[in-house]
Amino acid sequence: MDISNQVSDVNTCDFSESGGTYDLKTLKDIQLLIRVIEESDSFTWSHSINVANYAYTLAEMLCLSNEQKNNIYIGALLHDIGKIEIPETILKKTCKLTPEEWTIMKTHPRVGFNFLRDYDQLMKPDIHDIVLHHHERYDGNGYPDGLAGEEISLATRIVTVADCFDAMTSNRVYQNAKDKSTAAREILNNAYRQFDPQLARVFVDFVLKGGMLCPLPYQLQDIGLINKQKSS
Ligand SMILES: [Fe+2]
Ligand SMILES: [Fe+2]
Repeated sequence: MDISNQVSDVNTCDFSESGGTYDLKTLKDIQLLIRVIEESDSFTWSHSINVANYAYTLAEMLCLSNEQKNNIYIGALLHDIGKIEIPETILKKTCKLTPEEWTIMKTHPRVGFNFLRDYDQLMKPDIHDIVLHHHERYDGNGYPDGLAGEEISLATRIVTVADCFDAMTSNRVYQNAKDKSTAAREILNNAYRQFDPQLARVFVDFVLKGGMLCPLPYQLQDIGLINKQKSS
């Protein structure tokens, strides 16, 4: 899919439609799952919120449908949910992981995918694909399935860029945050290897121009609000 003619200025996109693809029960289930992430590891929770906002903005710039944008947002919120099963000694380790610990860490996409199987209404292709495949790489050297190029869904390729950008620009126990323009250059340097080159260019352009994150439709704002009230 050639996305080069699809990119639009985020500030001119139409936010008037809510794209109401979720019923109340589904929204409550999503909120419950996000709370599970928050209670298990507040760092993963705040990372997931950031990734969801970046991914939604990138999807908006590509003028994807409301349903696609909403699924990308929800998939990004839940992308690391499998980390709730990773032992804290590994998840919060301050030095390099051993090969054995890496093997355990790399199970989180499949663990998350299996976890979501209990939630039929969330088993939409984009959502389960994001959770299962967000560590695949464009060159095929990622995990768990070694998918390459457009074998990886567009939704997942969008979240992969957002995921790595937030990881680079956040302080972690083992690294200091990079500034946004340094992180953007790294995204571009890894186009074709780790990232879809067209998506990398669109996202980096957005970052370097100091672009603002898209406002979320009402339904999606609600998901974040409940958590903000809880954590304030
Ligand atoms: Fe992950
Ligand atoms: Fe992540």
